[in-house]
Amino acid sequence: MSETKIAVYPGSFDPLTVGHEDIARRSLKFADRVIIAVAHHPTQYKDRLFSVEERVAMIGECFADDPRIDVAHFSGLLVDFCASRKANIVVRGLRVVSDFEYEFQMALMNRELSPDLEMVFMTPAGEYTFLSASLVREIASLGGDVSRFVSPPVLRRLKERLRM
Ligand code: PNS
Repeated sequence: MSETKIAVYPGSFDPLTVGHEDIARRSLKFADRVIIAVAHHPTQYKDRLFSVEERVAMIGECFADDPRIDVAHFSGLLVDFCASRKANIVVRGLRVVSDFEYEFQMALMNRELSPDLEMVFMTPAGEYTFLSASLVREIASLGGDVSRFVSPPVLRRLKERLRM
């Protein structure tokens, strides 16, 4: 029997957008299971909109339809989290050229730390290339309509949090 291919899709996901969802679902074309891994970023504590626990809960609801997609959170190194889950694929979305430099540096460093880990860069559907969690946060906090950028479980929490 061939080995189960487990991919980790790490990020802040504050909040998860439909662009993230698109990447996670597309990853099932090459992975048997995808773990969406919400990173604890102690240094960004003040800027966050949702706690890690809230993000995990929202993501779980967004993917409740597909048991192949799981959600977890981690602190510490991504490579250690991947090892703990026996995952040797890391998925990252690349939208625009400006994403590239940071991603390339991280990919090379992760490979230094864990040579067996493969980083896979995915392009989202064209209509999501302009989308980012930080823009969703900004637009929502200024009263704009973000209903086409996030799924209903995220929209509901945004409305509660920002009293939209
Ligand atoms: O959505 P983000 O904030 O761009 O995601 C960045 C993330 C979480 C993938 C990155 O910060 C990360 O991997 N953090 C875990 C700590 C770690 O392993 N750092 C070394 C990276 S080479």
